Amino acid sequence: PDAVSGPGPLAGRRALVTSGPTHEAIDPVRYIANHSSGKQGHAIAAALARLGAAVTLVSGPVRVPDPPGVTVVAVDSARAMLAACQAVLPVDVAVCAAAVADWGVADRAPQKLKKAPGQETLTLTLTRNPDILATVAAPGPARPRLVVGFAAETEHLLEHAREKRARKGCDWIVANDVGAATGTFGGDRNTVHVIGTEGVEAWPPLTKAAVAERLAARIAEALAEDAS
Ligand code: CTP
Ligand code: CA
Repeated sequence: PDAVSGPGPLAGRRALVTSGPTHEAIDPVRYIANHSSGKQGHAIAAALARLGAAVTLVSGPVRVPDPPGVTVVAVDSARAMLAACQAVLPVDVAVCAAAVADWGVADRAPQKLKKAPGQETLTLTLTRNPDILATVAAPGPARPRLVVGFAAETEHLLEHAREKRARKGCDWIVANDVGAATGTFGGDRNTVHVIGTEGVEAWPPLTKAAVAERLAARIAEALAEDAS
């Protein structure tokens, strides 16, 4: 079902949001994943919808409920997430908040892996997953007018985030410290820096809902400026 637009500053605009972790299957019963809860990405999708955008949320496996007024496409792996995102394009704005696994399992076992007698180690070969943000942000006729990425870091936050913005070709990067002491993963609060064309903005500690609200308002402003 295609997402529908409502009244508000983003009326008539289409938005794509990625959220949650991805699961990379090892065999039919096991996978590689990460600690993403999907709270921040889901909150952004909800906030964009409240401003009137037609929002499609492409989400990895999460426990948080589907946001109201949003079309949700559930995926598991990074490759499935990329395919689902490409099917949603073109959009006016894309926000890539998913914690996409950087690596997939090279030879996914068709049956549950069994231990051999005396086996003490297991070696898995991992292969690079596609970069969804970089793919969506690549120049071309289907590029969204605004592409927003996240940078989850445990050290050298701004330095790494600036480098990611340049490397991936996105317009803004929302940098967040996910060090264990911050409680960001799974928690309800987030302290972010937003890096855009005009430099770095330090936002105060906010709830993930408030970060989403503020980001959605910024997106609405940027798209309005763009149109005038
Ligand atoms: N991202 C993506 N697809 C990937 C990896 C990352 O779309 N395969 C997106 C994330 O959704 C996020 C941004 O890229 O918006 C940065 O993700 P992050 O993991 O911080 O950066 P990486 O480029 O993967 O670098 P690294 O994990 O090595 O720090
Ligand atoms: Ca990564």
